[in-house]
Amino acid sequence: MLEEHPLDPALHDRQGFTCGVPALDEYLHRYAEQHRRRGLSAVYVLVDSAEPARVLGYYTLSAAEVDAARLPEAERKRLPRFPVPCFRMGRLAAATAQRGRGLGKLLLGCAVDRCLKAREQVAAYALVVDAKDDAARDFYLYFGFRSLHDARMTLYLPLGR
Ligand SMILES: CC(C)(COP(=O)(O)OP(=O)(O)OC[C@H]1O[C@@H](n2cnc3c(N)ncnc32)[C@H](O)[C@@H]1OP(=O)(O)O)[C@@H](O)C(=O)NCCC(=O)NCCS
Repeated sequence: MLEEHPLDPALHDRQGFTCGVPALDEYLHRYAEQHRRRGLSAVYVLVDSAEPARVLGYYTLSAAEVDAARLPEAERKRLPRFPVPCFRMGRLAAATAQRGRGLGKLLLGCAVDRCLKAREQVAAYALVVDAKDDAARDFYLYFGFRSLHDARMTLYLPLGR
């Protein structure tokens, strides 16, 4: 059974993970644990319960804010003119060997669920991501994200109404 958990450096095999994007691999191998400890990113991994050490995918979440002026006009009109609180999914990756099995969708769903729960306690308007290339951007668009008004590679998913 697939399960999503906070990264546990004593259990999860970070070095064995590869998604084919060196920066995303290196992040999990070298920086994720440090960032988690320092309160820079919360890191979540997807594993199969039958093989709980093998990381099949991961994502990170942090607090963020976006200047309301960067949102499309229709939305901007409904918002005050100060920075809008958000969550940022800094990284999302599925293991190369697992592509096309729905793991990216599952990871994204888990991230959105966490944001919806977290915003019951601390307000946040949207989940923001920076797409690293057009394929990643298309992935986010497919799931309903919209580009910021002034940055097509930065996308956001409103979390409320
Ligand atoms: C982007 C990524 C996470 C997608 O993961 P995946 O497991 O291959 O994708 P899934 O199997 O979950 O796909 C889910 C759905 O998204 C669609 N999809 C996948 N990649 C897509 C893309 N680039 N553009 C549009 N749609 C895409 C699939 O067709 C599928 O549609 P369906 O639910 O209607 O069948 C994965 O390709 C990856 O790790 N890439 C390298 C790192 C990366 O680019 N991260 C993005 C953050 S910058």
